[in-house]
Amino acid sequence: MKIVILGTAAGGGLPQWNCACSNCDDARAGRIASMTQSSLAVSADGASWVLLNASPDIRTQMADARFLHPRARRDSPVAAVVVTNGDVDHVAGLLTLRESSPFTLHGTEAMLATIAENPIFRVLNPDFVRQEPFALETPFAPVPGLRVTGFAVPGKVPLYAEGDKVDTKLLGEQTVGLRLEASGRTAFYIPGCAEVTGDLLDRLRGADLLFFDGTVWEDDDMQRTGTGKKKGARMGHMAMNGPDGSIAALSSLSCTKVFVHINNTNPVLQPDGPERAAVLAAGWQIGFDGMEVAP
Ligand code: MLT
Ligand code: MN
Ligand code: ZN
Repeated sequence: MKIVILGTAAGGGLPQWNCACSNCDDARAGRIASMTQSSLAVSADGASWVLLNASPDIRTQMADARFLHPRARRDSPVAAVVVTNGDVDHVAGLLTLRESSPFTLHGTEAMLATIAENPIFRVLNPDFVRQEPFALETPFAPVPGLRVTGFAVPGKVPLYAEGDKVDTKLLGEQTVGLRLEASGRTAFYIPGCAEVTGDLLDRLRGADLLFFDGTVWEDDDMQRTGTGKKKGARMGHMAMNGPDGSIAALSSLSCTKVFVHINNTNPVLQPDGPERAAVLAAGWQIGFDGMEVAP
């Protein structure tokens, strides 16, 4: 199984257009690497690829990834896209894939319904783009040799679909994790997760590789960086640090662990900071665009 991180950032990317936090300033100045928004490319045979999430940065991500370039006058190695929720950072890239090339879009019924509610996605011509709902806990094969299984993880509906009351730890079809299996190796991709439940931890035992939600270091990153008031938990993302954080919750897993979906305000992006050192000391890696990870 080949897995490449196309985009490591959470919604907004690094730098984010309207942000002058120290990370965004450093990225603009070239002191730290910029990051595009949340997506992985996965293949079992190195020829046919599935994109896990279609980020708003998909155009540059695909231009930068040689293995995703067309092999003929009009062609793409991308055979499928699987989305893990309906958030803007995970679906807006579908609009870039509108040029009448065949691929299959996989999402839960709820996610595909959310996409269908927005008429702009009708540019995905059904003569070329098949939409295939997947049921939770039911494996499917988006590309040859790769088995993908979606499962519910605590999360919330997309920001643009929030009502007056928001359940930030909803367990259903709105937010999923993906189990990826090929040639006897198993990886998990969970870019958004509000809580590591006992069931989730049990599921992850025996994995070879885990990509996990690294949106915020502490719940109040945005307040600490003077960029906003919103807490990680309110956005459906658990913190990395602290007794209730993902590092502690997943400490019993000895597999390769990589943080992705990292918000531009997260202090772990500072190369010499104590937060990054703590993450690395805990046995985690911090993803970067173009990172290839073998499960
Ligand atoms: C999130 O992961 O919380 C969302 O992508 C936020 C957003 O819609 O920008
Ligand atoms: Mn996001
Ligand atoms: Zn910023």
